[in-house]
Amino acid sequence: MVTRIGEAAAHWRTRVAHQRPEWPSPAELGCVVDHLAAQAPLVTPEECDRLTERLAQVAAGGAFLFQGGDCAERFDLLSTQAIHGKLRLLQQVAVILAHASAGPVVTVGRIAGQYAKPRSRPTETVDGRTLPVYRGDAVNGTGFSQAERRPDPARLLRMYDASRHTLDVLRDFTRDGTDLHRLHKENEDFVSRSPAGERYGALAGRIGRALSSEDAHDGEPPGGTEVFASHEGLLLDYEAALTRRHPRTGRRYAGSGHMLWIGDRTRQLDGAHVAYFATIDNPIAVKLGPAGTPAQALALIDRLDPGRRPGRLTFIVRMGAHRVRDLLPELVEKVTASGAPVVWVCDPMHGNTFEAPSGHKTRRFDDILAEVTGFFEVHRALGTHPGGLHVELTGEDVTECVGGGAALGFDDLHRRYESACDPRLNVDQALDLAFQVAELFIPGTSGAVTPGAAVSAAAWTGPR
Ligand code: PEP
Ligand code: CO
Repeated sequence: MVTRIGEAAAHWRTRVAHQRPEWPSPAELGCVVDHLAAQAPLVTPEECDRLTERLAQVAAGGAFLFQGGDCAERFDLLSTQAIHGKLRLLQQVAVILAHASAGPVVTVGRIAGQYAKPRSRPTETVDGRTLPVYRGDAVNGTGFSQAERRPDPARLLRMYDASRHTLDVLRDFTRDGTDLHRLHKENEDFVSRSPAGERYGALAGRIGRALSSEDAHDGEPPGGTEVFASHEGLLLDYEAALTRRHPRTGRRYAGSGHMLWIGDRTRQLDGAHVAYFATIDNPIAVKLGPAGTPAQALALIDRLDPGRRPGRLTFIVRMGAHRVRDLLPELVEKVTASGAPVVWVCDPMHGNTFEAPSGHKTRRFDDILAEVTGFFEVHRALGTHPGGLHVELTGEDVTECVGGGAALGFDDLHRRYESACDPRLNVDQALDLAFQVAELFIPGTSGAVTPGAAVSAAAWTGPR
């Protein structure tokens, strides 16, 4: 049982909340917030604490985080099949990375709450007509009309329902554990259809043998991998309405998802987002773009993790392929010297977005891989742990990013471009990335894959 927090924890309300939608009716917003405050939280403090424990292992260098999902989830794309597609892809990638890194992988979806978007401009102009920009299904609609683009607080209730539904599907999907052999078979299918199949075949073969050897040792099939839910905690009216105090421990948790992050545009030290995040006990992350300085990172640590609790704070860095090698070393060096046990994660998506000749927002697979490679190199040189990867992907065969094994080009983008916001990796591009990141763990792909790696990954997921 958890109770709602009182206004005493609402100090963040006195600060500026950047990117807050211009809700047209404060009274209507107030009704929605009261309604949300009476709802059950979507996640439990125990689940959030378990994720913090997992992330503490990442911070200590003994595990890897894989975080991925849509840039923006959509209310009208909630079929079980679509949700399963994303979860399966997350797990397929996790199996590859677990074996390559010879350690457990913590799998976290950008899922069940990723409905609000920060934007670089407040308006959008099409054919000379200017309207408010789309800010995520939690705020307004994608259609280019005055009615669609008007922020509507009732959408926050739909966000709650959609998140709850998605978490129900996620919990069903992961409850009995996933059959790692089935995931591996799907990875083998990818390898056989991939133009780079020969290159990936050796690693896929080693993963298959490691799985069989675990069976022989264990006598029972390995379980699946657990999946946690995360989203950007952008809409503080929504987040605060779902925040609850645990009556036994007195600690406060955002009830909207296991892990929340602060975006690169809302991480001002004196802003409302940092102030609100300081009041919750969930594992949290902050995105750091190229303007993020070591001094800012150190100040964020002091505000958000004064107790230096391993697993509490993750930095998701998104510098861009061309800048990561210049900007990351000083950041990592200074934070490491401070003794703060943060998790370092690479988001190779948001620093590498550009507009294709067709006008589609896109990203090059090679830039994405180059940024991850730079991230690994910087950590290797400093002797620190490249803790994880954060990507935008979908379980559908979309055409939003260019490159990858199938060499999608600009001319392919129009075929199936469905993202409401940023371009996502499709299934084959995500698996391509997983195999190539695996090679960063195992230079030359000749490293040994130990059966123990997958056993420990599986050990996290069985019935608990
Ligand atoms: C995002 O993750 O979709 C996003 C907007 O990222 P950032 O805050 O890093 O720009
Ligand atoms: Co995005």
